[in-house]
Amino acid sequence: MAGGKRVIAVRPATLKDAESIFALIHLNRDMLVQRSLGNIVENIDRFTVASRGGDVIGCATYQIHPEIGKSDVASVEIQSVAVRRPYRRSGVGTRLVEAVISRASAAEPAEFVVLTFAPEFFAALGFSEIPKTKVMHKLYTGCINCTRHRDPFTCPEIAMVRKSAGRR
Ligand SMILES: CC(C)(COP(=O)(O)OP(=O)(O)OC[C@H]1O[C@@H](n2cnc3c(N)ncnc32)[C@H](O)[C@@H]1OP(=O)(O)O)[C@@H](O)C(=O)NCCC(=O)NCCS
Repeated sequence: MAGGKRVIAVRPATLKDAESIFALIHLNRDMLVQRSLGNIVENIDRFTVASRGGDVIGCATYQIHPEIGKSDVASVEIQSVAVRRPYRRSGVGTRLVEAVISRASAAEPAEFVVLTFAPEFFAALGFSEIPKTKVMHKLYTGCINCTRHRDPFTCPEIAMVRKSAGRR
């Protein structure tokens, strides 16, 4: 891990973090859906960041997927998880995702889902693979705007789920 004894804090993002989050997501453009700065600013209240000194070294956020008339099965998607390379494999990504899950749990979703190129990371967090047909809402709202893959079913991203605490 990058040196020094400065503590890494995991905290809700503020508007001042928006440009750093934009840069971090852009740096990981091979793995993450890109966001405009405007999109990040509009949704800043759902972002969580890891910061060391004044620097943002990690970020993560979530989106609630509505299930009209079926609130008991509503899911939350974990999105835009990234940790700056020198700080990886020291638990920062885990802290970010657990913080996002903790914040989003206030809405009492049934489950957390993710579409990811990093299945080992999410498996370590208790997520398990599911067929992409179980996340059609995500395919309709996110994948339909993908500029890299025409067909979400041949795209190598893996769909994963973790039930909310207390749900089976
Ligand atoms: C995925 C990512 C966020 C992980 O962040 P991190 O801070 O390194 O994660 P952690 O240190 O909390 O890892 C926890 C565990 O996940 C697993 N893991 C993490 N990265 C892994 C990798 N590249 N390969 C295999 N397992 C991995 C390991 O079991 C790890 O525990 P260990 O280090 O004790 O073996 C980071 O690699 C990253 O920013 N990648 C680029 C963007 C991306 O792919 N985001 C996910 C898509 S939503």
